[in-house]
Amino acid sequence: MATPEERQNKSAQLYARALELMPGGVNSPVRAFRGVGGTPLFIKSASGPTIADVDGQTYIDYVGSWGPMILGHADAEIVDTLAAVAASGTSFGAPNELEVELAEEIVDAVPSIEMVRMVNSGTEATMSGIRLARGITGRDKLVKFEGCYHGHADSLLVKAGSGVATLGLPDSPGVPASLAQHTLTVNFNNAPALEDLFKQHPDIAAVIIEPVAGNMGVVAPEPGFLNFVREITSRNGALLIFDEVMTGFRLARGGAQELYGITPDITCLGKIIGGGLPVGAYGGSRKLMRNIAPTGPIYQAGTLSGNPLAMTAGLLTLRRLRDKSIYERLERSSARLCEGLSRAASEAGIQTVTNRVGSMWTSFFTGEPVTNWTSANKSDRQLYGRFFHAMLGEGVYLAPSQFEAAFVSVAHTDLIIDETIAAARKAFRLIS
Ligand SMILES: Cc1ncc(COP(=O)(O)O)c(C=O)c1O
Repeated sequence: MATPEERQNKSAQLYARALELMPGGVNSPVRAFRGVGGTPLFIKSASGPTIADVDGQTYIDYVGSWGPMILGHADAEIVDTLAAVAASGTSFGAPNELEVELAEEIVDAVPSIEMVRMVNSGTEATMSGIRLARGITGRDKLVKFEGCYHGHADSLLVKAGSGVATLGLPDSPGVPASLAQHTLTVNFNNAPALEDLFKQHPDIAAVIIEPVAGNMGVVAPEPGFLNFVREITSRNGALLIFDEVMTGFRLARGGAQELYGITPDITCLGKIIGGGLPVGAYGGSRKLMRNIAPTGPIYQAGTLSGNPLAMTAGLLTLRRLRDKSIYERLERSSARLCEGLSRAASEAGIQTVTNRVGSMWTSFFTGEPVTNWTSANKSDRQLYGRFFHAMLGEGVYLAPSQFEAAFVSVAHTDLIIDETIAAARKAFRLIS
């Protein structure tokens, strides 16, 4: 059998070249495997529930490009249509029919959105969403929750999750203190602390929240918490921004706001709405959104926004997600997976807590319930790293960090799920 070194020969060579050319050899920090050690795999292709690396190894994939690939990789309809659309031109920098169709699809699906603006990433969506909130309220202060990640805009890189948490970085140098001081933070699920913040700061423009946190690993809102956040923002004239970049079209067609029955003022989207191409969007009521240029004074623009290829992949994905039975299937297969993983861990005598909402999940290596960043951060990251590599050895590709969500797609059949559970049984035994 090939050793891990032999298996990663070409990846290792590419990584050595990449290290000379790109910071950490990557274009996004968590990809560098710093959270788990070792050499990142360079991926050559992907199909359905699997990805294949440049050394010819195939893995069952639970990263799903960090969330967008809810239909699985290289979906035939999307790939074929993209080829046809590309033949008609890849970018116009002018209005096109596809962006109208995607906007209609989003407005139809997401309860709080009457009007939407497309951008190119989740970061742009949240950055623009908070500008809108600040512009409308005339206030500067922003509340975010510790361990939530909303992209890498200056105001949002304060006590952030995802790669910032993985690398154990304090707030990023380069963010002016004069700007960061406007970002207040509070622990997720802590209603009294949020209430205190509002008492101390009557001038809060907005509260931004991942309604189900995915970037400290998956953490669900406790019953009533999102209702409280909605109520206290309304009471204080602050706007509520749901960052549904991850949860949008993932937890339900209408996202977390449909699942929990909460109406935010502004919703940020990304990932799934681009079907694997670079897209973000933010939206809300017509009244709010008309404040954006050119109808209003709040400026935001984009050379490639509404790009026809990105609109096509998004549109086809969202049309397929009109079929509500998809979410029932995802719920069943994800429950089967997470129950199997928990059982496999306890059979091997390893303490884990697996948090799951719909098809988003994380297994934390801890014995305590994980309800916020403080408890997520107690997870044994070294043990996660060993589990990650043991799973890789068994042909399963998980996120190379404890503080991420894993994603089940439509392409993860029961057979694939059972293979994953069998792999986990071996992996847990190996590390116990
Ligand atoms: C909840 C959330 N918001 C925003 C972002 C930023 O999106 P992007 O990486 O597309 O800029 C992410 C990315 O993972 C995210 O998970």
